[in-house]
Amino acid sequence: MSTTCRDLCSSAISNQGQRAADKTSPASLVYRVRMPPIISVSNLSKTYASGFCALKGITLDIRRGEIFALLGPNGAGKTTLIGIVCGIVNATEGRVWVDGHDILASYRAARSLIGLVPQELSTDAFESVWATVSFSRGLFGKPPNPGHIEKVLKDLSLWDKKDNQIMTLSGGMKRRVLIAKALSHEPQILFLDEPTAGVDVELRKDMWDIVRALKASGVTIILTTHYIEEAEEMADRIGVINKGELILVEEKHELMRKLGRKQLTLYLHKRHTALPPDLQDRGLELAADGSELVYTYDTQAERTGITTLLKDLSAAGITFKDLNTTQSSLEDIFVNLVRNAK
Ligand SMILES: Nc1ncnc2c1ncn2[C@@H]1O[C@H](COP(=O)(O)OP(=O)(O)O)[C@@H](O)[C@H]1O
Ligand SMILES: [Mg+2]
Repeated sequence: MSTTCRDLCSSAISNQGQRAADKTSPASLVYRVRMPPIISVSNLSKTYASGFCALKGITLDIRRGEIFALLGPNGAGKTTLIGIVCGIVNATEGRVWVDGHDILASYRAARSLIGLVPQELSTDAFESVWATVSFSRGLFGKPPNPGHIEKVLKDLSLWDKKDNQIMTLSGGMKRRVLIAKALSHEPQILFLDEPTAGVDVELRKDMWDIVRALKASGVTIILTTHYIEEAEEMADRIGVINKGELILVEEKHELMRKLGRKQLTLYLHKRHTALPPDLQDRGLELAADGSELVYTYDTQAERTGITTLLKDLSAAGITFKDLNTTQSSLEDIFVNLVRNAK
């Protein structure tokens, strides 16, 4: 990890609350200060029996009501982290509290607050949709509530399939059934582990609508994904995990503001083969066979240097007919972070 990235990461993690407080309204500030995190993960590590260390000292708070996207390449440790919070995988070290309940000492209380949509598609093939979703609710010791199951199935557009055997459903419908099962016991927290891996674009959009509606109803959502677009679209905050280490936690907008770079492209009147000496080493690059000049600058810097640059270009006789600016996407930021962390 580069020095700048490391500095940024540690300050991002330790100053999260402070920075958020600086930016939020007094009302939400009071809310934040008073409301303890809904999930608190402290110094969590996991070494599998094989000796492989999948998580290394993860410390993370999830805020009540947020959509938190855990972003990371395959094998980063996302599913392991979720598995520990949900009590499926034992941690080697560290502790987790769910709404104040220690997941080991108060397993039932903690687990009953959580709905989990697993990464792997596996459901009973022969059961009907209605039976399997109702049964899931029973597993959490909740009394039957047909009204709730009906609402969940309707919200997920599964109502007309309620009597169908699961094996007769399409892949997308099966995924909805998994969400319905996870919501059957009215959890306050929903984990979605790669909810849109391998689903078509339409279903992905539907899934995003479902997640937004859940958030509006007060459910806290933690989703893992390696689709950056998904995090960009949905998340309030983003955590980046790589090789078992949480390398960054940040508000999405703050992350994009802070790490975002802008590029100014000038479409030149004439082709240039080289830049005059006093215009070198200033973040300028000739592109498109010398017919474009690209200036990369930091959106955080006090001055972008554009005014001076344009003056100097004009003095050097370099004129342009048009210009364009572009800003780096979350994808560029993510790729850079993971690359720098190697
Ligand atoms: N039961 C297991 N035994 C040994 N290694 C495992 C086990 N489960 C996962 N791993 C390893 O731990 C790492 C993290 O896996 P996982 O949490 O599934 O990552 P992700 O969900 O980010 O793709 C991977 O290298 C994976 O091979
Ligand atoms: Mg996974």
